[in-house]
Amino acid sequence: MNTDPKKNFKNIDKVFFESIAKEFGTPCFVYDENSISENYNQIKNVFAQEKRNIFYSVKANSSLSILKLLYDLGSGFDIVSMGELDRVLKIGADPKKIIYSGVGKSEDDIKRSIEEGIYCINVESFSELERINKISNELKKTAPVAIRVNPNIDPGSHEYISTGLEETKFGINLKNMMDAFIYASEQKHIDLLGIDYHIGSQIETIEPFLKAISSVAQIIEELKNKNIHIQLIDMGGGLGISYNNEKVPTLNDFGKEINIAIKDNNLENYNIILELGRSIVGNSGFLLTKVEYIKKDSEKNYVIVDAGMDNLIRPALYGAVHKIDCVSEERNNKEELLCDVVGPVCECADFLGKDIKLKVEQGDIVVVYSCGAYAASMASNYNTRPKPAEILIKNGKPIQISKKETIDDLLKRELII
Ligand code: LLP
Repeated sequence: MNTDPKKNFKNIDKVFFESIAKEFGTPCFVYDENSISENYNQIKNVFAQEKRNIFYSVKANSSLSILKLLYDLGSGFDIVSMGELDRVLKIGADPKKIIYSGVGKSEDDIKRSIEEGIYCINVESFSELERINKISNELKKTAPVAIRVNPNIDPGSHEYISTGLEETKFGINLKNMMDAFIYASEQKHIDLLGIDYHIGSQIETIEPFLKAISSVAQIIEELKNKNIHIQLIDMGGGLGISYNNEKVPTLNDFGKEINIAIKDNNLENYNIILELGRSIVGNSGFLLTKVEYIKKDSEKNYVIVDAGMDNLIRPALYGAVHKIDCVSEERNNKEELLCDVVGPVCECADFLGKDIKLKVEQGDIVVVYSCGAYAASMASNYNTRPKPAEILIKNGKPIQISKKETIDDLLKRELII
């Protein structure tokens, strides 16, 4: 099924959103297994040939069943914490298909990554490199690393997710990166596999990706001149999705363009990894929520629903616009209302959509589109609200892949002293 938000629909494979809401309660997340598989296979078919691999970025959606689905399709994993490492090991992932990024790796994190034998640690600073060297020496093991460079490329995305700009905390800048490569190449207990970058997320055009590839090709030439030879290029992730009819490259087009750039820059002999997240799961997920109240006696019309910024923080954090629709059968002749769709959380930033036209009445089920990535995985318990259930539509059936949290789950780790 095509889950592009341009299409209005009320069911996935004839499993109706309204019946899912009735059976599992609201709010809840719903994912379409076919859509995730189709997305993964689209990029796999065009890109993941010999020496090229997809390492799904776990942070986009880290539900165990979704990780297992991607594992079964052949994906590796890009992780950023030991929690994510535990998740991927739990579904049986091969450590040799795990790559670990992140600016704040602790001594324990590094020690464990080396001991588990993961494929590669992406190093984000010189001091991290020194720490890895110290630990690998102590363990008398070799740490496989790639140096994350910051190529200072503007991905044209929201400033919070434009990680490839020099002023951000990510990677080592072009001025200082050579010191890191030289240091890494000289250490007995470090295996310098390659170079890594991730210039940002929700990137809607190909150009920034192409710029990054030619910048890396240049760096590789500089490395060769210093007699440093690498085998891996980790290109990160970042391909955007269409949230509201924006025109973005398909995974297929993206893969083709990347392949061409690899060829044009003479990089065909390198192992190349893409760490895609959002483009694989983003448009395959939905948030279902129920209309609790319609408030017309205010400056604005408000549709107050039972999901809030604790379930989907993207509108509050990035000003993200997610398409929203009513999926309940029309019972009465409803008038179309210009409204803000807001949650029950005590913050003005608690909105799912602003200035939206909706035909709704109290008790209706509303769907928020494009909630497969960075929705459930960024959910919180703010206002002591339990996280929602997650449902996967598999073979035409709704299967609960995570239970709704209970208040007891939330309170049980706390002490009264
Ligand atoms: N690799 C690294 C090192 C990353 O930091 C990320 C995302 C990815 C890969 C995957 O990027 P993707 O293909 O999903 O764009 N919470 C934000 C997005 C944050 C992205 C963080 N890093 C949002 O909701 O838009």
